[in-house]
Amino acid sequence: MRLSQCYNFHDFRNLARKRLPGPIFNYIDGGADDETTLRRNTDAFQSCDLIPRVLTGVKDIDLGVNVMGQELKLPVYLSPTALQRLFHHQGERAVAAVAEQFGTLFGVSSLGTVSMEEIARQYATPQVYQFYFHKDRGLNKAMMERAKESGIQVMMLTVDSITGGNRERDLRTGFSIPFRLNLAGLWQFASKPAWGINYLTHEKFALPQLDAHIKMKGATSSIGDYFTNMLDPSMNWQDVAEMVKFWDGQFCLKGIMSADDARRAVDIGCTGIVISNHGGRQLDGSRSSFDHLAEIVDAVGDQIDVLFDSGVQRGTHVLKALALGAKAVGLGRYYLYALAAAGQKGVERAMSQMVAEIERDMRLMGCSKISDLNRDHVRFR
Ligand code: FNR
Ligand code: LAC
Repeated sequence: MRLSQCYNFHDFRNLARKRLPGPIFNYIDGGADDETTLRRNTDAFQSCDLIPRVLTGVKDIDLGVNVMGQELKLPVYLSPTALQRLFHHQGERAVAAVAEQFGTLFGVSSLGTVSMEEIARQYATPQVYQFYFHKDRGLNKAMMERAKESGIQVMMLTVDSITGGNRERDLRTGFSIPFRLNLAGLWQFASKPAWGINYLTHEKFALPQLDAHIKMKGATSSIGDYFTNMLDPSMNWQDVAEMVKFWDGQFCLKGIMSADDARRAVDIGCTGIVISNHGGRQLDGSRSSFDHLAEIVDAVGDQIDVLFDSGVQRGTHVLKALALGAKAVGLGRYYLYALAAAGQKGVERAMSQMVAEIERDMRLMGCSKISDLNRDHVRFR
């Protein structure tokens, strides 16, 4: 299979599986425990049907939205994800370049492999800095100061990862950063020499957001260990209220899954929330983000920007979430498989296809701008 034969999520995923060593593919692909939430995230869209309107005049389609003070050309954005240079040597540079090309938001992760300063300097597209709350309060402050200095527009604190999710695929393969491989893992790397050569002949793996603060380099550390040892499980609303004040700008919480928590986010001055279960990678058995979207929009939709992610694979998924009241929709694995499959070219193709789907589906729904979509366009079974 080649890139030119990739038409949807599943095609990109298949190509990524062919290109990547097993432990890396499974790190992207997997979820927590029995992966029920991972599966449910996408299945949930099937319990909701679209109700198209006709004869509305849909010659020109405007996909623009305004989210947390940012003008975006698209209602979808590239959600922050870790370790992108491990998936393809172009990593964050490829993803940010495509975000810029499409006029949408790019999220730099705390566990990103290119520095937030470089991304902010090189790519003129609104940027989110995603961070975790570390035990070391000095580190938290230093990170926010760095983000401010580099001109990051939106702070995004991930609140659903107070400890590492139980990702059994990673336990089996021994996936860790940089790498600690068991025998089975070693064999899988040897069986993908093209990936190995690329990895070894490009810039050395690094975590520039964290390098000055932690020793993840020489030592091996799994993602689960990072969550468990570095992050502060005592983090509470008071701590976050102080951060919101300190940042004094657009601040959103990623991983809100209850209406009460959404109200508290409003109370402490957040300007956005992302309804997300981290793509089913944290608490398995957690409700799907889509099933919970309407309830949260009803609670706080008029006071705060409600964003949404987890399980999105299709333009119609995006339209359903927007119709229920999400202001924008985050993509995770959708662009990561494309990155792994073919670097920047892959992400470009995946995003072009997503935009084409959204545009086509808008026409078929009889909507010419995003604000035309509303609850009359969807019905749950
Ligand atoms: C993530 N996600 C994530 N979230 C975050 O806040 N910080 C991070 O560093 C990462 N890293 C990360 C790595 C990988 C490989 C994946 C798949 C996901 C979660 C991500 O931002 C988003 O919430 C989910 O990916 C959305 O679900 P889908 O679209 O992948 O189903
Ligand atoms: C993950 C972390 C890094 O989901 O957010 O793997």
